[in-house]
Amino acid sequence: MNKFIAPSILAADFANLQQAIEMVNNSKADWFHIDVMDGVFVPNISFGMPVISAIKKHATKTMDVHLMIVNPNRYIADFKKVGADILTVHYEACTHLHRTVQAIKAAGMKAGVSLNPHTPIAVLEDIIADLDLVLIMSVNPGFGGQSFIENTYKKVKQLKHLIEYSESKALIEVDGGVTDQNIEQLLEAGADAFVAGSFVFKSENPTKTISDLKNLVSPK
Ligand code: DX5
Ligand code: ZN
Repeated sequence: MNKFIAPSILAADFANLQQAIEMVNNSKADWFHIDVMDGVFVPNISFGMPVISAIKKHATKTMDVHLMIVNPNRYIADFKKVGADILTVHYEACTHLHRTVQAIKAAGMKAGVSLNPHTPIAVLEDIIADLDLVLIMSVNPGFGGQSFIENTYKKVKQLKHLIEYSESKALIEVDGGVTDQNIEQLLEAGADAFVAGSFVFKSENPTKTISDLKNLVSPK
């Protein structure tokens, strides 16, 4: 099965976004990971539609948009308009998650659901068959550069079992504190997609860092 590297634009230099986008375009990365924060669901505010539109103008790869906002339902059509291919909402932010997931798919995007570190996998039992992706947070959402929570390996394994048991086609994505030190163990646990922000953008040679990560998860 394909494995995906998704550099998180949150860690890029926002004054040189075009350069960061070209770097990702010309690297072995698979997706652009785009973090939207509203200052309500998470303590931080990142960026919104105008910035995503600007990224989309240059990006040649899948736009993987991670919404850390309350009531994401209100903005589904807008995120489609600015170029999202995968739209991921938080379980903790959706009262009517089933409705939200169906609306994302009806708008022509892949639907993802994200779980905070404290949210158990079991809450997905009755929605997993409808999902294209599950995003396991391996840090508390809101900021880049935090350390990886070790309990994530167990959650990825549990999710993998749930996906197999329910014959779901959902991909497993892991987000937060991903580095060359934990990516192989995440792969082994069953992860398919790996978000990396600081580890890529704060490295000396981001293109090489992406390529190294990709090599670690590609079949030998
Ligand atoms: C955190 C975001 C992440 C973040 C990851 O709330 O969802 O995507 O950019 O950054 P690193 O890789 O630095 O932990
Ligand atoms: Zn994210």
